[in-house]
Amino acid sequence: MRLCLAREDKTKQVEEELRLARLLRRRAEGRSDIEEVRHVLSRSARHLTPEYVERLWEEYDNLLKLLSINLDIGAEHNLSKLLDRIIDTVIRALHAERGYLCLVDEKGGLRFEVARGIDKMDLKTGQPHAVSHSILQRTITSAQAVITNNAEEDERFADFASVQDFQLRSIMCAPLKIKQKVIGALYVDNRSIKGNFRQKDLDLLDTISAQAAVAIENAQLVEDNVKKQMKLLAAKEEVEILNLQLSEKVQRQSSELAAARRSLEQSRQYLETKYNYENIIGRSEPIQQLFRLLDRTTETDVPVLIQGESGTGKELVARAIHFNGPRKSQPFISENASSISETLFESELFGHVKGAFTGAVVDHKGLFELADKGTLFLDEIGNLSMEMQSKLLRVLENGEIRRVGGKDVRKVDVRIITATNRDLPSLAKEGLFREDLFYRLNVIKIILPPLRERGEDIPLLAEHFLKEYAASSGTPPKTLSADAVALLTEHDWPGNVRELENEMRRLAALSGNAPVITADFVSPHIRSAPPSPAMTIPDQPRDLRETVEEIEKRIIQNTLDKYRGNKSKTARMLGLSRDGLRKKMIRYGMRAGEEEPDEKNSGGSGT
Ligand SMILES: Nc1ncnc2c1ncn2[C@@H]1O[C@H](COP(=O)(O)OP(=O)(O)O)[C@@H](O)[C@H]1O
Ligand SMILES: [Mg+2]
Repeated sequence: MRLCLAREDKTKQVEEELRLARLLRRRAEGRSDIEEVRHVLSRSARHLTPEYVERLWEEYDNLLKLLSINLDIGAEHNLSKLLDRIIDTVIRALHAERGYLCLVDEKGGLRFEVARGIDKMDLKTGQPHAVSHSILQRTITSAQAVITNNAEEDERFADFASVQDFQLRSIMCAPLKIKQKVIGALYVDNRSIKGNFRQKDLDLLDTISAQAAVAIENAQLVEDNVKKQMKLLAAKEEVEILNLQLSEKVQRQSSELAAARRSLEQSRQYLETKYNYENIIGRSEPIQQLFRLLDRTTETDVPVLIQGESGTGKELVARAIHFNGPRKSQPFISENASSISETLFESELFGHVKGAFTGAVVDHKGLFELADKGTLFLDEIGNLSMEMQSKLLRVLENGEIRRVGGKDVRKVDVRIITATNRDLPSLAKEGLFREDLFYRLNVIKIILPPLRERGEDIPLLAEHFLKEYAASSGTPPKTLSADAVALLTEHDWPGNVRELENEMRRLAALSGNAPVITADFVSPHIRSAPPSPAMTIPDQPRDLRETVEEIEKRIIQNTLDKYRGNKSKTARMLGLSRDGLRKKMIRYGMRAGEEEPDEKNSGGSGT
């Protein structure tokens, strides 16, 4: 009896441990649990009947099987592979003949996802009619696992057509359940052997189904996630392409904008900054004196006379005065006086009315009217004939103009800047320039020294022109080698800054890609630097008179050539009377070449 009681106690204890084992099975979380079960079973085995031990070991076996199934299916995230794996596992674990996995679709219908025969042949879609749809349906609606070992005779299913039609015998079906929701079912059968499945098989199927449902849901989530990710990626790619297109467009527009801004900036600079003193390059004393003088000149309205050889920057200085002064937003009109013909002088300066003379087909504004409120820059003023000088003087005295052929007198407010490369006082002394006009123009006198007299500015100017060239051609600025600088500094630059500017442009272009311009690029005439022929002083003593005459002859010839044989102009330029020039030409046996008609007095009506 005691023994019997003891046995009963043991049984209770084992049953308790079995409950624990079941619990563990349900959790089946990992190897440590299995170890625990093994431990429990081996501890208990000594006190149990052999049948009981057999049952326990079977239970334990199932646990192991389940664990391996769990590990197996849990690791698969590809949905279709997972479904295959589940059905193969179930068939293997339950020794079933056939196996099916169905999922409930969105509309609540059943979809056969996988079907397997014992030979592992894929029977999918071809034979779903060989399955008891009624049992499947019942499992899904009741959310309970179903077993029958003689479907033909089972009261619950006997009336289901397919069971009888297909002589289905042993069937098990378990719902695939996530929480309370049934997402499908696992169905296995054995058609010929009755009693093939036991309750423990159903438990196992149920447990596998529970694990499978979780794995399926996971895989579906993973698949959904992948799909979403793909969609996101595609969207992201699309956004990136759009972004790229947008940024290209923005870049294009901003570079267009930058170009527009640059050209605007350039024209602004042209109007305002190009002609401030920063654009007058030079550090030499004469240039510094010039700046000091300009400071006092720009703000005033008084006439300025600029004297200097050609190319010394007379127009540059005139512009600097205008564009730094109060008239900067008003017109700056520049005209070379020697290019105006005697006949058209009045019309050019004061304008004409339609019909004033042959060819006056429309009303025409003169330079004074165009420059009203602004500045009129008259270059080469020393070349005006006496007649032209008087006409100019008149307007300067009363500030009034009348268009040729017109009646109205107009007041004009014009700042006058004149320039000359000649010495006006000497011309005046010779009676070639009106003294009164000279005094009117010469209120402020600016003398620009020739470049050869401010050699220290040459490297600065050269560098400035190289930079300018680089900026306009969009290339990096070049530098000059020391020997090239030496050559440039030694040259006497008869054409002054203009000649240097041309030489630098030539060098920058000719030196190609070379970053440093060496002496061998420099123009041959600068390299050999022959002094101007008219100025050659013979090394050996020669007859002075003869030499002077030779030089005089050459100068006259050059001047005649320059003015295309025009003797009046040549005489004026050389400070001679027309008669004096004629006599010298006769003495030297010279001809005026292709002579242009000499100047006659203007035929225009006076103002
Ligand atoms: N000091 C200077 N700094 C920079 N450029 C100069 C300077 N002097 C003259 N230039 C440039 O040399 C060229 C000739 O000048 P310009 O004023 O036309 O001379 P001019 O009227 O005396 O013949 C112009 O391109 C001018 O910009
Ligand atoms: Mg000039």
